[in-house]
This record gives sequence, structure tokens and C-alpha cells, in this order.
Amino acid sequence: MNTQIDNLLHEYRKFPPSEEFARNAVATTELYEEAKADRLEFWARQARELLDWETPFTRTLDWSNPPFAKWFDDGRLNVAYNCLDRHVEAGNGDRVALHWEGEQGDSRTVTYADLTAEVKRAANVLSGLGIGEGDRVAIYLPMIPEAVVAMLAVARLGAVHSVIFGGFSADSIRSRVDDASAKLVITADGGWRKGKVSALKPAVDAALQARGDLGPQETVTNVLVVKRGENEIDWTDRDLWWHEEMAKAEPEHVAQSFPAENPLFILYTSGTTGKPKGILHTSGGYLTQCAFTHKIVFDLKPESDVYWCTADIGWVTGHSYVVYGPLANGASQVLYEGTPDTPHPGRWWEIIEKYKVTTFYTAPTAIRSFMKLGRKIPKQFDLSSVRLLGSVGEPINPEAWMWYRKVIGGKAAPVVDTWWQTETGAIMISALPGITETKPGSAQVPIPGINVDVVDDDGHHVGTGNGGLLVVAEPWPSMLRGIWGDPERFKETYWEKFGDKHLYFAGDGARLDHDSDIWLLGRVDDVMNVSGHRLSTAEIESALVAHPFTAEAAVVGAHDDTTGQAVVAFVIIKESMLEESAAVEDIAAVLRAHVGEQIGPIARPRDVFIVNELPKTRSGKIMRRLLRDVAEGREVGDTTTLADTTVMQIITGQVTAK
Ligand code: WTA
Repeated sequence: MNTQIDNLLHEYRKFPPSEEFARNAVATTELYEEAKADRLEFWARQARELLDWETPFTRTLDWSNPPFAKWFDDGRLNVAYNCLDRHVEAGNGDRVALHWEGEQGDSRTVTYADLTAEVKRAANVLSGLGIGEGDRVAIYLPMIPEAVVAMLAVARLGAVHSVIFGGFSADSIRSRVDDASAKLVITADGGWRKGKVSALKPAVDAALQARGDLGPQETVTNVLVVKRGENEIDWTDRDLWWHEEMAKAEPEHVAQSFPAENPLFILYTSGTTGKPKGILHTSGGYLTQCAFTHKIVFDLKPESDVYWCTADIGWVTGHSYVVYGPLANGASQVLYEGTPDTPHPGRWWEIIEKYKVTTFYTAPTAIRSFMKLGRKIPKQFDLSSVRLLGSVGEPINPEAWMWYRKVIGGKAAPVVDTWWQTETGAIMISALPGITETKPGSAQVPIPGINVDVVDDDGHHVGTGNGGLLVVAEPWPSMLRGIWGDPERFKETYWEKFGDKHLYFAGDGARLDHDSDIWLLGRVDDVMNVSGHRLSTAEIESALVAHPFTAEAAVVGAHDDTTGQAVVAFVIIKESMLEESAAVEDIAAVLRAHVGEQIGPIARPRDVFIVNELPKTRSGKIMRRLLRDVAEGREVGDTTTLADTTVMQIITGQVTAK
């Protein structure tokens, strides 16, 4: 079966939970049994127990018109009420919702009572500007409390937010505003990044000015501007200061309920073909799965935990695990404005020490960049409060997982590797702390109530020990409800790969080990075919990162006359190993041999290039497409979505200098 992906990496380490952790764990093994016995009733119970419904639902799932799902659709609720007012009404108004930390060290403590009061005012401001049920609002803000307030105020009115990551350009704003016909943009005069104020408002101005007389009518009637950066800004008639409008607004606002399937947000994710897809999420099912997974995957003890997810609100992780999951659960969390290395490379660890963070959730790309700098930096801080670690966004290599557990988690904190996507809305595959015996590098098991499979091209289960395509076999509460304005693309992209089986195709390769645990192998588009063997990027990269010299690695398949494709590796050396590795005569040969030993001769890279950087998107994912261009000696393709567009010139220079 040519769709099967060979699995070659052998990793046998296992870490059972400590007895103490297991004894106090929020998750229980019964959850799996209950979900297995009656999956829909299981989700209905979660929805009832975790959320407050103004009108209880009587229907759990309507799947009569696949792939268009409806969950809890005759129920009514208000998402913001669930994240705010009800905690205050329950007597928890004094609990800290946000420990906000600015990049420069300024800080704000926002309690649930404060946050509720701000969202009420903001909801009044927005409705005064004509925003109501179903209207779209674009949010282009830095990581400041107002970003959370803005999202929840939109949700409170039954309107739909479209958060645009603060690093995106005027063009991206324009296309997102147009695609969703947004009526309002909420932005700031700037935000602190890497030691200076990076401006936001000029990009919004440029986006809106780009309209001209041609094209559709401008839909944006107002721009609300939060004052954060003390930047001079150009002012137009449609602009309003956030703080002035907030001061004028009525403080009281009673949340109305909306149907469970009312749209909550659109979030754009780039597809393989140019135009970003507006992934649509709705209210009741989304909030149920966010709250449930946040509670059990992060073992949440809301009275004592300090949780910190480092994702920007511009990404889905920021939506589900900074805003909706934690706030629905009444958690206390850190919100940090800036970059990890400003003003010093220990900034994140300093924040963990300062707020005594217990639960920390970040991406493998960040972990590997800290590995590159060495453990002496985190060692300068007291990280003893950390009791649980999470990873998301890419496969985490076993060595990075081990480092994370040891250096940040004090050799004791469980590491949960959580697999999910913008499209899935919430975590789908993850170990449960206190229950699962964790394995470095494996996302392991679907969460209770989720049914995933690894299949071949015909949609048949591959069986343990084999690799193939990851699919979700049954609808889930937080699933995307569509691509905004493009139902055909929704069906084609995700649901038609296996005919009328209605399997959701995630685009990722995966394998099942002999315990049926799931190992993610990277995007299927990146799989290499070497002499007829389908090799995954993740496994070879893991082998490279397991070498003491390597901090980070990316591999791609490049055309090869003999083998069809050959493995080409790009490797970053750890700072602490620079001297030692420089003394090695042929480092490429050393790493090639190492991969040969770890995985087998078939996976040995033909070329190994030592580089200082890898091309990454702004959310930290490696863009292998561009490395393939370099490896095949082509002109490098479109680099506009790179976090740092100069990286490719440097890499091309380093490769051609060889
Ligand atoms: C990848 C981020 C391996 C995967 C929440 C997926 C992962 C894509 C993991 C979605 C993980 C995410 N292990 N790969 N734990 N988590 N991915 O939409 O390729 O930004 O399809 O959502 O990231 O990225 P997105």
C-alpha cells in the first residue's frame, strides 16, 4: 500500500504518572469508559455540567446532512456570560483572571469582576456602534487585556470576531476584512515587541485606504483604537479611541442568549493553495470541548493553579486555550505581551518564577530554541512551581520532550503533547496527566469522546505498527462548521478524500505503535519517497535532534536521479556545542552516520547543511516547501508568510557557499 508511511524511529521510554499526581488527578479512567458506552450522552453531560444554558438543549447531534454538523442546536447560551458573569455570581469575582505582564515589565492584575465589568462596557460600546448578532468584527491587537475584552464583548453580542495576528500586513487585513465583510476593526496604536513599539494602526489605515473607488463597497464603518504604545497616529473620521468610548459607556449590560450554533468566530488559516481559508466555529459545542479539554488535559485546579499558554490570540491556540477554555473554567492565567527573549533570554522563566506558574503550554519550536541557547538560562530561575507541561503545534521530538520535562519540569512534571488544528477547534489527541503513561514524542490517545483513526488511501485502518493518514472518524463538538462563504471548498478539502465515508482528513501522517498509541509524522504533503519508501519528516528530524550537537533540524525530499527523492537535512547546532562541532572535520558525515544508526541506512540524508536559522511561519511552523526549493537548486518561492523574510537569503547563501 503506497500510502503507508514507513515507521522507523524506535523510542521506548515511558514515564508513568507519580502516585501523588495520579491520586489528585482531575481526569479519571471512567471518562473513557463512559464515552465509549454512549458517546453522545457523554458529550451532552459535559455540555450540561461545564456550561450554563439559558435554554437547555434536547438534541445533542444532528448529522443528517454531513459534513454539516449541528451540536446542541435547540439550546441557547451566551458564551461571554459563561466565561465571566457566572463566576462573579458564584462568588469568585475576586479571583484573578489575568496576570498581565507587559514586555517592559509593567503589569496589571485583572480579576473576574474587573474583566466582567470591562466586557459589559465594551459590549455597550460595540452595540452603540451598530454591532449586533451575526455582524463581523476584525480584531488586530497586541497581547493586552483589551484583546481578551474585545473578543468577549463581540461574543457577548452574538457577533462574530475575526482576529488577525498582529504581525500580519495591510494586505492580509484587507483580504480578511473583505472576505468576512467586517463592519468594525479594533486595533491599537502599537504594542511592545522585541524592545520597541511595533505599530498596528498604520497597517489598518493602509488596508482601509487600499479600497479606492473600485471593488466592493467599504464595509468598515469604524475603527476603535486602544492606546498602548503612545505612538503618533493618523486620525480619520471613522476612528475612535477605545478609552474614550469606554468611559462614556453604560456599565451595565445584560447578556442575551443565542442559539448554540450561532457563529462565534472566523479564523483564517493558510491552505496549500494561496487563499487563506476562513475557518468557522460556533458557540455551544466549541465552548464545551474547549472547557472539557482544558480541564482534563491541564488537570485544572482553578483555586490554586496559575496557568500560562504562550500562544498569541491571533492563533487558534490563543482562542481556545487563552480565552475560551480557561475563562469558561474560571482559571487564573498569565498573559504576556512580548517576545520570549526581550529584554533578556530568560524572560519567560522569570515570568514563571514571578507568578509561580503551575501549568505551562507552549510550542516545540520555542522549546527547541531554548535548547539551542542551553539550560543555564532557565536554571537561573526558580521553576519549582511548575507541575504540568503541554506542547502543541508540531510534532515534538523525543529529545525536546525530554529536555522540556527535565529542565523546565524538574524531572517530574508530566508532559502532554496535544494534537489538534484550527479546524478541530480544541484538543483531539493527548495523554491525560495522572492517567496515561507518557511516551516522549507521541501524542498518544484520543481524548474521551473523540474517535480518530489512522488509515490507508482507501480509508481502511492500517493496524498497529503501521503508518498512514490521520482521520477523525466521527463528528465532534468543536469541529469547524465550514469555510466562511465556501461550502464546496469545505467539503473538498476535508471530507471527500475517502468517498462518502465522511471521514475528516486532517492532512497529517501518523503511525500507531504496538500499544495503538498515535505518533504524528508531519504533514502528508511533506512526506518523502526514497527508493519507494515513504519516510516522514518528523522521524528523521527527531533522529537528528537526538544527536548532542543538534538544536533543531528540518528535512525535505529533493529530486534524486537514483532514488527518486533523497533526504536533505538542514541542521542548527546548539550554542554550547559550536566549538566542539567546529573541531569535527566532517560534521555532515557524523550526522549522516548518526541517522543511519538511529533509523536505518534508507533514512540517511544525502546532504546535511549546517545553518543558523530555519524558515518558519509566524506561528512557528517550519516551511519545508522553501527548503525544498533550496535543496533542488530552484529559485525560492513565495516567502511572504515567513516570520522573518530574510532567513531564506541567509540559508541560500549558506548552502551555495558549501
Ligand atoms: C500540527 C494548532 C504534531 C499538525 C493547534 C496540524 C501537531 C497542524 C501537533 C495544525 C502535535 C499541531 N503533534 N503535529 N501535538 N499539534 N500539529 O491549525 O500538522 O495552527 O495539522 O493548529 O499543526 O496547526 P494549527
